[in-house]
Amino acid sequence: MKTVNVGICGLGTVGSGVVNVMQRNIAAITSRANCGLAITHVGARRDNPNCDVSDIKVSRDVFAVVKDPNVDIVVELIGGYEPAKQLVMQAIANGKHVVTANKALIAVHGNEIFAAAESRGVTVTFEAAVAGGIPIIKAIREGLSANSIEWLAGIINGTGNFILTEMRDKGREFADVLADAQRLGYAEADPTFDVEGIDAAHKLVILASLAFGMPLNFEACFTQGIADLSPQDVIFAGELGYSIKHLGIARRAEHGVELRVHPTLIPQRRLIANVDGVMNAVLVKGDAVGPTLYYGPGAGSEPTASAIVADVIDTARMLDVDRDCRVPHLAFSPDAVRPLPILPIEQISSAYYLRLTAVDKPGVLSQITQILSDAGISIEAVSQKEAQHEPDSSQSGQMVPIVLITDITVESNLRAAVGRIESLSSITDSVTFIRVESLT
Ligand code: HSE
Repeated sequence: MKTVNVGICGLGTVGSGVVNVMQRNIAAITSRANCGLAITHVGARRDNPNCDVSDIKVSRDVFAVVKDPNVDIVVELIGGYEPAKQLVMQAIANGKHVVTANKALIAVHGNEIFAAAESRGVTVTFEAAVAGGIPIIKAIREGLSANSIEWLAGIINGTGNFILTEMRDKGREFADVLADAQRLGYAEADPTFDVEGIDAAHKLVILASLAFGMPLNFEACFTQGIADLSPQDVIFAGELGYSIKHLGIARRAEHGVELRVHPTLIPQRRLIANVDGVMNAVLVKGDAVGPTLYYGPGAGSEPTASAIVADVIDTARMLDVDRDCRVPHLAFSPDAVRPLPILPIEQISSAYYLRLTAVDKPGVLSQITQILSDAGISIEAVSQKEAQHEPDSSQSGQMVPIVLITDITVESNLRAAVGRIESLSSITDSVTFIRVESLT
């Protein structure tokens, strides 16, 4: 039986998980790969006490791994854009297959990396780049390949979901929960990537390309984070039967593709609304299969290693396969991958949750509903909450929060109506609006 040699670049939380999973499950792994698999070279600046690499060659320079003529598959786990890109491009140039967990690298430089790999006849696999241990890339690229995919929506950042869950269930402070996520190894090196939705956008862009057969286009993705979410909105949404989740949504619309990451109200009765903590879930709607849901751990050492090792096994299995018979990087053959227009956020269609603070006096609600009606926006639900402040001496009444859920409208229409509502003298603060998705 031939042996395929694996080199690992980076021995942090995920790298140590890969070493441990490969060592523990090597018998099953080699049976599945139908060849021997051995980690023969690790590149890491320092040792990691969480794994044993005493029988493996270790270099302090990760580039030594991609230059090693005995390495067949390079596993890139250093993360970030550089030097990861240089490392991957050099591995490809040296004729090595690459497995990576690096979503930022794939989302931003994937088109160039795949083109280089295709012309060199090697593959770059990236299952661990999206939703950690959930095999969502394999599901879209292979399991759903009979379908025209209509939309997908996912909780694809474990740190953000963990923060939202802890804030909702335990009333914990944002910064305190974020520190926990960092300690547990879920958060990115720069946690603003998690909180501001950049990490989720990286992953969404990858999923959208696989689903719709378009090149990766990170710049076009609309991104809004969770840092400004008010606990009040979480409570009011709950009272109306909704949970707030930080979703990545990609949808094929009439004039283009919606590509957006933002806090979203979703009905509590949807399974995905009950995905809590660091868990991830992705809903994919195909025209033939209908809605399908994929759930599992989105981060962490061994869950991520699970996806990486599966990619290593897949790569080893297809080493002798004619290159034209391999699964294409972006699910569609390279000459069929075509740019599609990505809609600016003003042109997307959604329902909306609005929260406004109004003077509690007759006629205010009718002014608001009139503005929405004039804009052709239908109201699904409206609720006036109890006054939260003492009467304001400059106003003729108490200030009360009013919460509305609208029907679906184009966002530019909604924003214009919100502007008109904000200009009413009876409205004191800016209006909060959050998109609402029914996910059916
Ligand atoms: N920071 C990421 C998350 C890690 O929290 O989901 C996995 O990509």
